[in-house]
Formats: sequence, structure tokens, C-alpha cells
Amino acid sequence: MSYPTRSTRSLLSIDDLSNSQVIHLIERAQQFKKNEIQAIRPAKPLIVGMVFFEASTRTRFSFEVAAHRLLLHPVVFVVDKATSVDKGESLHETLNTLLAMRPDLLVVRHAGNIRLEEIMRKSSIPVVNAGSGVEEHPTQSLLDAMTVQERLGQIEGQRILYVGDVEHSRVAKSGAKLFQKLGAQVAVCSPKDLAVRDSNVQQFNTLSEALKWCTVCIGLRIQKERHSQATNLSQGQYIENFRLDNKNLAALSSSAIIMHPGPFVPDVDLSDEVLSDSRCAIHEQVTNGVYMRMAIMGDLLGLSYT
Ligand code: CP
Repeated sequence: MSYPTRSTRSLLSIDDLSNSQVIHLIERAQQFKKNEIQAIRPAKPLIVGMVFFEASTRTRFSFEVAAHRLLLHPVVFVVDKATSVDKGESLHETLNTLLAMRPDLLVVRHAGNIRLEEIMRKSSIPVVNAGSGVEEHPTQSLLDAMTVQERLGQIEGQRILYVGDVEHSRVAKSGAKLFQKLGAQVAVCSPKDLAVRDSNVQQFNTLSEALKWCTVCIGLRIQKERHSQATNLSQGQYIENFRLDNKNLAALSSSAIIMHPGPFVPDVDLSDEVLSDSRCAIHEQVTNGVYMRMAIMGDLLGLSYT
């Protein structure tokens, strides 16, 4: 089965968007958040297929909430014992099968599968990448940019720091591209064997030095499920040097903000006390995720608003 024409309306990578499209999406998401616009019910029911080949809580749930708020019909597929994947069907044939049912839009998350990426790229049905492998998570980057814009008033000129397992983080890779495109500086602070290779971003050796520099600190989870080999660093050493907690965050300016894409491992990448820090925007990121995904799906489907 083949889908010969690539839909130009898909969002597969943050590279698919121009600066003006990003600014438009942030403004649109803010209109939804302020309740300034409402989706008009489409003449025919529009089906959004949510295909999750990899675990997710916030991305999946927020796409579903966003779809309902837009008066769309989400249909969710997750790989489990009740699907034909359990009988041996390949993931790419599963995706082709779901596309053959002609939903109006497909949202897909996968662990980094070249054949799935090729199908998504060639699909004539608009596709949104809900996180793929270690490289792309465009909707997370957009909601992160929206959160920085809201909290700090502008993105241009900010100093964005990613802390932790940058090498395996699609959030950091997509986010770095987006923030640089929008005129922010990006740096990382990670253990040596979790640092991103061939990086064009500044690298800090110590967290205190990095935290003094940044205006936005974005923590990351150690993504063990994507590690091909064990790291040399013990959990104790990681906690001491990279955990975001009251002790380490003492070096962060009072006007800076703390973010994390989630999920976070309590007491390893983040301590609970950070959630009640006035600089913490983690739950705002989650809230903004719904509005940003409304903006993205609304645009791809050409919805009208009152
Ligand atoms: N940030 C993020 O993608 O979270 P989930 O894996 O819970 O969707």
C-alpha cells in the first residue's frame, strides 16, 4: 500500500514550521486559553486517529482533550494484548491499516522506526508527530515555547538550559532548534556520557555555573529505555550533580523559570519541593499542551471559529 503524495499539512518536525507559523500557533493557542474563540462544529464528523506505539500520559491525554474541545472525534490505538500487533503484525502494516480507514488526521508516537517515519512522510492524510525516537517532539517544543512566552513575555534573547540526559532527549533536540530559530540562546549541562554529540550548543560542566547563566532551566528524565549501554554514572552521583532540587536551584535567578517536559522520576531528576517553587512552570506546560494541540489540529484540519 502506498500514499504517493506527501501532505504538506503534516507536522512531523519542528523544521516544518516557519517562524511566522510558530508565532501564529502560539497566538492561536493563547486565544483558546483565554476562551476568545470556539470551534464551529464541522459539517461532517472529523475523526482523529491517535496511534501510540510507545507509552505516553500527557501527550496522549492532551491530544484527546484537545480533540474533544474542538468537537472532533478521537479514536485511540495503543499497542496491547487486544491488538493484532500481539498476533505478530508489524507496526508499519498496522499504521498502513489505520491510514486505510481514512481518518481525517492521524497523531502518531513511536520509538524511532524508519519505516513508520517513511509512511508518515508519504501520507496524504495530515499526520502529527507526537514524539519519535531521540530526535523529534515538535508539539512539546511548541508548548514549551508558549510557556516561555507567557511567563517571561518574550522568547528572543532568553538563555535556555537543558539539564541531564540530552543525548536521548527528543524534547531537547526539537526544543533547541525551535528556541534558536526564535532568537534564544541554548546550552546544555549533562553527564559526560549523556551529552549530545556534535552539538552546536554551549556545554556547561557544572550545574551551578549553568544555572547562573540561564533564564529558563529545563530538566530532563534519564531515558533509560533509549540507552544502548549502561552509563558510568551512579544514581547517587547524578542526584548530587544534576537533580533539580532546592540545594542546586539556589544558583538560579529569582526571575528565571523551571520547566520539565515530564514524566519525571521523583527524587532523581527532580525533587517534589520544586513543584511548589514560584519559578516552576511544569503544570502550566501541561495546561498549555492542550491549547497548543488544539491550535495545531485546528490548523491542519482547516477548522473555523466563532
Ligand atoms: N512530555 C511527554 O511527551 O510526556 P508523555 O510521555 O507522558 O506523553
